[in-house]
Amino acid sequence: MHSMTDHDGLAETGTAPAAWTIMEARAAGVTLILPERSETYRVMTDVLIRNLREEDFSFLRSVVNDWWGGRPIADLMPRYLFQHFQSTAFTAVKDDASHAIVGFLVGFVSETHPEQAYIHLVGVDPTYRGRGLGRELYERFFETVRPRGCRYVRAITSPVNAGSIRFHRHMGFEVEGGDATMPDGTSIHSNYSGDGQARVCFVKDLTR
Ligand SMILES: CC(C)(COP(=O)(O)OP(=O)(O)OC[C@H]1O[C@@H](n2cnc3c(N)ncnc32)[C@H](O)[C@@H]1OP(=O)(O)O)[C@@H](O)C(=O)NCCC(=O)NCCS
Repeated sequence: MHSMTDHDGLAETGTAPAAWTIMEARAAGVTLILPERSETYRVMTDVLIRNLREEDFSFLRSVVNDWWGGRPIADLMPRYLFQHFQSTAFTAVKDDASHAIVGFLVGFVSETHPEQAYIHLVGVDPTYRGRGLGRELYERFFETVRPRGCRYVRAITSPVNAGSIRFHRHMGFEVEGGDATMPDGTSIHSNYSGDGQARVCFVKDLTR
């Protein structure tokens, strides 16, 4: 088994080339040794993931409504998330001089239930979707919270967000039983986020 590091903070030994992507490394059965505070690592040939920074706030607030197809998401992104949750939040940036942001995830470990983690928001630039970036952001989160003792990851989404429901199912989440069902049979929790604001509740068992 090889391990590796490159200039982005990955360990490198044996025959692993410096610019391998995570996916290439996985396909070859190479274990990536990620330093605990590793800033970035390569996920594709042209995208890096690093921890979220406060300086990402303005840009992400300005694009999320568009990324969500016009839904009012910006108010779900208060500045304190960018200040106080950086170790469990990630930003995907282009691996070029622009370092333009093309995706992000904000999550945290539950203070009340330390064996649980929660993903608050994930978004990928529409032009970067369908390439595995959402999956890489989720897996980076799983790899971060698992060693902290988390066994479960929770997330919620709106019943209208069919893409998010399918994405979470692909990511191995189960839908938690609620008090009503959508026409397609998906269980929902009525009034979960207030009167008339139903949500689909997901849970993933990290130990499986
Ligand atoms: C949901 C979202 C983050 C997915 O990002 P992405 O980079 O396109 O996802 P990936 O390419 O990594 O896909 C991961 C898996 O989910 C599946 N998937 C992703 N979006 C899907 C969709 N709309 N319909 C069906 N499957 C989907 C992929 O097929 C893939 O499955 P596989 O690995 O088993 O083949 C992105 O569509 C997005 O930003 N949507 C708007 C914001 C949003 O709704 N966020 C979620 C609620 S907070």
